[in-house]
Amino acid sequence: AEQNRELRERLLQLKKERNAIILAHYYQRDEIQEVADFRGDSFLLAQKAAQTDADVIVFCGVHFMGESAKILAPNKTVIIPDERAGCPMADMVSVDGLRKLKAQHPNAKVVTYINSSAEIKAETDICCTSANAVKVVNSVEGDEVIWVPDKNLGHYVQQNTDKKMIIWEGYCNTHDMLTVKDVEEMKAKYPNAQFVVHPECRPEVVELGDFVGSTTAIIKYCKESDCQEFIVGTEDGTGYQLRLDSPGKTFHFASKYLVCPNMKVNNLKKLVKCLETMQPQIYVPPHVADQARLSLERMLLVK
Ligand code: 13P
Ligand code: SF4
Repeated sequence: AEQNRELRERLLQLKKERNAIILAHYYQRDEIQEVADFRGDSFLLAQKAAQTDADVIVFCGVHFMGESAKILAPNKTVIIPDERAGCPMADMVSVDGLRKLKAQHPNAKVVTYINSSAEIKAETDICCTSANAVKVVNSVEGDEVIWVPDKNLGHYVQQNTDKKMIIWEGYCNTHDMLTVKDVEEMKAKYPNAQFVVHPECRPEVVELGDFVGSTTAIIKYCKESDCQEFIVGTEDGTGYQLRLDSPGKTFHFASKYLVCPNMKVNNLKKLVKCLETMQPQIYVPPHVADQARLSLERMLLVK
């Protein structure tokens, strides 16, 4: 506790010196969410990065999030606590693979989940997050969409749109681990609880949801609902904001495996160190960033 207090004081000082803003995803460790200037899901954090007037953005999340921030705010310095925090789902789609699919379906628009590399975004018509996926898909011209990389979110969107979706076979290791059996056991144990679930989970798990939505949508739903008890089908870091917003309510995570190891690579110590050394910095080659920016900016404009 004493060490953390010292780290927090040092952080405040460095933040001022560097004119930095700390953005943290809801899946980060509590010790990081506690000191963040802004917490959010992928959509809110991308929006914040695009709008901030700080000189430095410290992005506490995984690599693609830092990259998106840099693409949206090319004149700012974007640093991250640990370069090794990647997203396995983002690595499941290759530029070659996507180009082949585009050649096979020349009339389809490419809609890419923000959980993807800058190179993939540069091959994309429009990005989306789990918060706006259905709206984004419905917004594109034509009736065919190439969807990368999350098959589970893709399946969820397909059920809520008339467009024909060609869906890549990627998935989130963490959310995809949750099974129907896990959820049924929890429902038997907590019969009064509602099940709230992220659309990165498997279709048969999502189907059991009393509410389906992005991390922010889940937090908001639990806060506003009359229900007092929830089984939560998303990453366990979400508990921090859930408990903050709904202190009287009870939250049971649907499985002990709902922990993204990559999100947890970051900690308070590394966060302070990256502001001290201003390393590692996110770099995106300008020609890639310029292409990728269009797909992110189009997403931010979808109402
Ligand atoms: P959201 O932030 O859109 O809820 O996405 C979840 C996720 O897995 C981020 O990596
Ligand atoms: Fe990637 Fe899943 Fe971790 Fe999000 S929770 S960063 S999608 S592996």
